Amino acid sequence: MDRYALIGNPVEHSKSPLIHAAFASQTRQELSYQALLAPLDGFSDTVRMFRAEGGRGANITVPFKIEACSLATRLTERAKLAGAVNTLTFMDDDILGDNTDGIGLVRDLIINLACPLASRHVLLLGAGGAARGALFPLLQTKPASLTIVNRTVERAQKLRSAFSPHAGQTTFTAGGFKDLGGWEFDVVINATSASLQNETLPLPGNIFAHDAFAYDMMYNASGTSFLNWARAAGVARFSDGLGMLVEQAAESFALWRGVRPSSASVLSKLRLQLASHD
Ligand code: ATR
Repeated sequence: MDRYALIGNPVEHSKSPLIHAAFASQTRQELSYQALLAPLDGFSDTVRMFRAEGGRGANITVPFKIEACSLATRLTERAKLAGAVNTLTFMDDDILGDNTDGIGLVRDLIINLACPLASRHVLLLGAGGAARGALFPLLQTKPASLTIVNRTVERAQKLRSAFSPHAGQTTFTAGGFKDLGGWEFDVVINATSASLQNETLPLPGNIFAHDAFAYDMMYNASGTSFLNWARAAGVARFSDGLGMLVEQAAESFALWRGVRPSSASVLSKLRLQLASHD
């Protein structure tokens, strides 16, 4: 049986094994997918061992996505630009590194949530790894404008410089939270980790255009602090990042198996599970 794994530290609460098992049964693919804990100083050894034991591919999670980028012998363009890898495919002579996080976000927004990005005004909050991974796929959707803001303004400016060759016709700007006064956006995406610490971002309450969409890449049972804030600011359309998790997995699965699973039933199962832990 073809073997796949999620490699990270920690991995015990990961939903990826459940998601990939559901995809496998839905598409009638014979495969196994396990969570594999790598020691913090033993990522490449863990990958090597898994590959030697017949592993065909692996998803990579915290804190190894950047290390996985160096371990890969070939990178897709989106992985190169993200500077991080969440999907490894073991080939005869090569290890192919890809990053499916950003396309997972874009597919969740456009397909699952019916929130188009083309020709819209998009605000991306944060300039860490999550934001970096999302930028190229976001620019590829051709928004009218893409604005990155970050607490540390220089990080946002650095990202803008790195990705500006890929901006095409999109007006691409970067700044700090205090620069947002007076601007309105159709789609506001939170890629900061502030929700993890239950912290609220210093955002003006009037950044949302009519019928705007608020999206948090994080998720938790009680609603993230960013989404709770957005709802209080009057936003009617919003989502957490559970769909992004399922979509990035679907993209990895499609890459490995050559068949795209349908994500809707898996997402509703996870949604129910999350609600029951509330
Ligand atoms: P990740 O890989 O999850 O993106 P990261 O690279 O550590 O993690 O980046 C975390 C992001 O969340 C950064 O943009 C960080 O802002 P700084 O670059 O200024 O550190 C942002 N962030 C985290 N906590 C925040 C908070 N309380 N308020 C505003 N931004 C916050």
